[in-house]
Amino acid sequence: MNQMTMPAAAAPTLPDAQTVTSVRHWTDRLFSFRCSRPASLRFRSGEFVMIGLLGDNGRPLLRAYSIASPSWDDELEFYSIKVPDGPLTSRLQHIQPGEQIILRPKPVGTLVHDALTDGRRLWMFATGTGIAPFASLIRDPETYERFDDVILTHTCRDVAELEYGRALVEGVRTDKMLGELLEGRQERLRYYPTTTREESPKMGRITDLLRAGEVQRELGIERIEPGTDRAMICGSMGLNTDLKEILEGYGLREGANSDPADYVLEKAFVGDGI
Ligand code: FAD
Ligand code: A2P
Repeated sequence: MNQMTMPAAAAPTLPDAQTVTSVRHWTDRLFSFRCSRPASLRFRSGEFVMIGLLGDNGRPLLRAYSIASPSWDDELEFYSIKVPDGPLTSRLQHIQPGEQIILRPKPVGTLVHDALTDGRRLWMFATGTGIAPFASLIRDPETYERFDDVILTHTCRDVAELEYGRALVEGVRTDKMLGELLEGRQERLRYYPTTTREESPKMGRITDLLRAGEVQRELGIERIEPGTDRAMICGSMGLNTDLKEILEGYGLREGANSDPADYVLEKAFVGDGI
C-alpha cells in the first residue's frame, strides 16, 4: 500500500531573524559568533540586546547579550558562555554559519560613554564573558577621543579563557585602522589579564590586586581618584559588589544614563538574568 505523505511543512520563519556568518569556539565553556546586522539597528558601544532561538513551545527563548562588536561594524558579534543545562546556551553553542537567531533590535545598557562624565583615565574591569561590552568599547573611536589612558583588566579562571581578550587587544594594536585610534601610542590601551585558578604570569582576583595596590604599582598609577579616573564594571555579581565598594572607597560615584558620574556597572550580567 502506498503511504500517504504530507506536504513538507514550510520552515518556520523566525521573528527578527538574523543569519549567523561565523562561529568560533575558544574553550569548552566559551564561544563567539558573528551575524548579520539589521539595517535599522543603531546602538551605542557597550549596550546589550535580547537574542535567542525559538523554544520547543514555539515561542522565542531570549537572553540579554552585550554586543561585542563596535557600533561602526557591518555585522554583530557576540561572546558567549556555554551553560551545559542552560535553556538557551545548551542549544546556542551548536549554532552553525547559515543558521538563524532571533535578535530584538532594542539596544539598552549602562556601560556607555553617556553615563560617564569626562575624565583622563578609563578602567574597564571584566571577569569571564564580562569582557563582551568592552570588546565593543575598545574598538570605538569615542573611547580614545574621551580618554588618554584606557586600561582593560580581565580575570578568568584559566589561561585559555583569556584568549578572546588577548586576541582582541592585539587586533586593536595591529589593525591599521584601529591602530590609528591609539595615535601610534600603544600604551594608550593597556591590558591587564589575570587568572585565579591556573598558573599564569599574573594571578589573583582584580579586587585583591587593587586592594593590595599591586595593579596601581605595576601600571605606574599613583592613586585612583574622581578627578582623573572613570570605570566600567562587567562580570560576576560578586565582582560588582566588591569593586563598587573599592571604587567608592576611592571617592568615585556611580553614574547612569540619566545621571552621568564616575563609574558604571552592568547589573545581573551573571546571575538570575533580566
Ligand atoms: P540561564 O538560565 O540564563 O543561566 C543559567 C546560569 O548560568 C545562571 O544562573 C548563571 O549562574 C550562569 N551564567 C549565565 N550567564 C553566564 C555567563 N555569561 N558567565 C558565567 N555564568 C553564566 N552572557 C554571555 O555569555 N555573554 C554576554 O555578552 C552576556 N551579556 C549579558 C548582558 C546582560 C545585561 C545580562 C543581564 C546578561 C548577559 N549575559 C551574557 C547572560 C545571558 O543573558 C544568559 O544568562 C546566558 O547566555 C545563559 O543563558 P542560558 O539560558 O543558557 O542559562
Ligand atoms: P575565582 O576563581 O576566585 O572564583 P566565573 O568563571 O565563575 O564566571 O568567574 C570568572 C572570574 O571571576 C574567576 O577568575 C573568578 O575568580 C572571578 N571572580 C569571581 N568572583 C569575584 C569577585 N567577587 N571579585 C573578583 N573576581 C571574582
